[in-house]
Amino acid sequence: MDAKPVDQMNEAEARAELARLAAALAQANTAYHALDAPEISDAEYDALKRRNAAVEAAFPALKRSDSPSDQVGAGPAEGFGKITHAVPMLSLENAFEDGDVADFDDRVRRYLNHDGPLSYTAEPKIDGLSLSLRYEGGALVQAATRGDGEVGENVTENARTIADIPQHLTGAPEVLEVRGEVYMSHADFAALNDRQAAKGDKTFANPRNAAAGSLRQLDATITAARPLRFFAYAWGALSDPLATTQSGAIARLNALGFQTNPLTVLCSSPAEMLAHYRRIEAQRATLGYDIDGVVYKVDDLALQARLGFRSTTPRWAIAHKFPAELAWTTLLGIDIQVGRTGALSPVARLAPVTVGGVVVSNATLHNEDYIAGRDSSGAPIRGGKDIRVGDWVQVYRAGDVIPKIADVDLTRRNNDAQAFVFPDICPECQSPAVREEGDSVRRCTGGLICPAQAVERLRHFVSRGAFDIEGLGIKQVEMFFKDTDLPVKTPADIFTLAARDAANPLKKLKNRDGFGETSVAKLFAAIEARRSIPLDRLIFALGIRHAGEAAAADLARHYGSWAALTQALDLARPAALAHRAADAAVEAERAAARTENRRARLTELRKPLLDAAPEAARAAWTDLVGTDGIGPVLALSLSDAFANPVERAEIDRLAAQLTILPPPRRQTEGSPIAGKTLVFTGTLEKMSRAEAKARAEALGAKVAGSVSAKTDLLIAGPGAGSKARDAARLGIEVIDEDAWLALAAQG
Ligand code: IVH
Repeated sequence: MDAKPVDQMNEAEARAELARLAAALAQANTAYHALDAPEISDAEYDALKRRNAAVEAAFPALKRSDSPSDQVGAGPAEGFGKITHAVPMLSLENAFEDGDVADFDDRVRRYLNHDGPLSYTAEPKIDGLSLSLRYEGGALVQAATRGDGEVGENVTENARTIADIPQHLTGAPEVLEVRGEVYMSHADFAALNDRQAAKGDKTFANPRNAAAGSLRQLDATITAARPLRFFAYAWGALSDPLATTQSGAIARLNALGFQTNPLTVLCSSPAEMLAHYRRIEAQRATLGYDIDGVVYKVDDLALQARLGFRSTTPRWAIAHKFPAELAWTTLLGIDIQVGRTGALSPVARLAPVTVGGVVVSNATLHNEDYIAGRDSSGAPIRGGKDIRVGDWVQVYRAGDVIPKIADVDLTRRNNDAQAFVFPDICPECQSPAVREEGDSVRRCTGGLICPAQAVERLRHFVSRGAFDIEGLGIKQVEMFFKDTDLPVKTPADIFTLAARDAANPLKKLKNRDGFGETSVAKLFAAIEARRSIPLDRLIFALGIRHAGEAAAADLARHYGSWAALTQALDLARPAALAHRAADAAVEAERAAARTENRRARLTELRKPLLDAAPEAARAAWTDLVGTDGIGPVLALSLSDAFANPVERAEIDRLAAQLTILPPPRRQTEGSPIAGKTLVFTGTLEKMSRAEAKARAEALGAKVAGSVSAKTDLLIAGPGAGSKARDAARLGIEVIDEDAWLALAAQG
């Protein structure tokens, strides 16, 4: 049907057309965002939106209260409420080789300082999606997906339709959060796809996608019609412990009415864990559902509690993955992408091929050495075979990681295939792309003049752990980056957006396609809300190389304020340069093969260079590199970013827009060491260094690597040397391990 030109419409026609467009756009949104099954192309979608805007412009009085122009593309599954998990839903560290299992056991023992018997559970890793079920007084009150681990989607109504999930429990703790995996069996998956195909509906690529698509349905009757199952394997918040062991807790969940995996066993050594891994692997094909590895967990829950968590994974568990799946295909081309820190990353464009149930058409090629088949020291990779466009290559995929190229079949290489020439200018901004000594990555030197780096930095800036501004996702920053009326080229520009919009009465954002009064007001309010930002988020958001979330948190804790951090970096600069000069001198000597013992020589060379720097610079630098979690690599990277005039101007411009909040005080009531700076030295016998550090931080203390005037307490075990002497000289209190254990027990 040809649409009637807007200028020939009467009011009734316009009203009907707006209703038709609202319905069509709503349906397209649902299909795209909630059902993961787009029904129309992006171009068709845009055309509908444009037509809607045109009709509204001609008949402003008829604009609907649910006008599609007020919606900035529905966010993912906007229909689900959000649930903040009482206890975060974490992921698992991965192991790929047999040796990793013994390493895991070693690490656990070292952390606990334990060499007696130690049991682990071993069970299949189910390839589905995790779900947290909350029971209060025995009644199922809430079900939430994992989401980002902190906040998930409320899928309670859908979970109620799953037969394996009990609605009521008898004899359960008052509050009980049961966690486990929702999955679909192979037989149910095949039958579902047959039904979908018969109806002409979209089929699913694999059981995992089918399970995810079925659980995340806004209409619970659709979920009910999909045969989902559930295995319980963990728990979140609890009013009373389930048992004293992992295996006991799982048995208890089973007794309460949950399905638990029958292949769960207790092992008392890495050898037994590996034997069970082999047994499960042998049964993998006949289980009737997808698994992608074996999970090992420390059985004793008191030990689990002592081991605790790193930022996103527990120390007491590991997932031993099955080997990656492989497939052969043709390499169609090599593209170069430029990242946030200027890294030139080669990406393989592949003839699409199915690997482990997923169609793969891109793979990472890491860096130029990887393509050339030699690492930076000249040692062969893949037996020294290089990768050329047109080659027949083997692709592999392990879990959710980006596919990689494992091998090249040289017998099928064309005679005229050319070795790949890695560019030495940035494909985005034509600045020179250089490799620093010892770095396998070539980087664009354009900095902020490189549009690719600028966009990537903005994308990072608005990402989850950074500013995470609602309504200003990756798509929107890319759009504003290109905008001529309201450009956002750097993070600071985000915070001047509203003022610039207000100053331009002729070209208001609210009059644009895809925007409207409400959505613009919402966007500006969300930006305003983020003008106050915690220090650690700001540091992370700057996107400085090596400064990840954990390091940003360490820096924020150590310096406590933006002013203190910037002052320290400015002050330390001469010492940072001296440090770098020493590194460079040693590298030069090494290249000339004049130095044997690099470390000793480095110390030797560094001393006079550092001594030449002002005393205050040395102190600030020592304090920075001595901060727990911050090494010289990150310290130099930070120092460089803050000393680069262009970057610094941008950082200052941004900071001037913000209210920077100090890191929150940890909940440390009754802690005798809250706010204190501790240093550990010598051997601890009852607790590992790592556990002691985690415990001290949980009690609100800072742990430093070296003794200074700022140190409050030195915990010295046997063998303590120079640090104990420094402490004595500075009059700092020194205690032994027993006194430390008594202190640590008080929090
Ligand atoms: S334990 C604190 N056990 O794997 C971590 N997870 O890669 C608790 N998974 O997010 C998880 N089978 O969705 C655990 N037997 C199993 C599992 C399992 C599958 C999933 C889970 C987790 C992911 C981590």
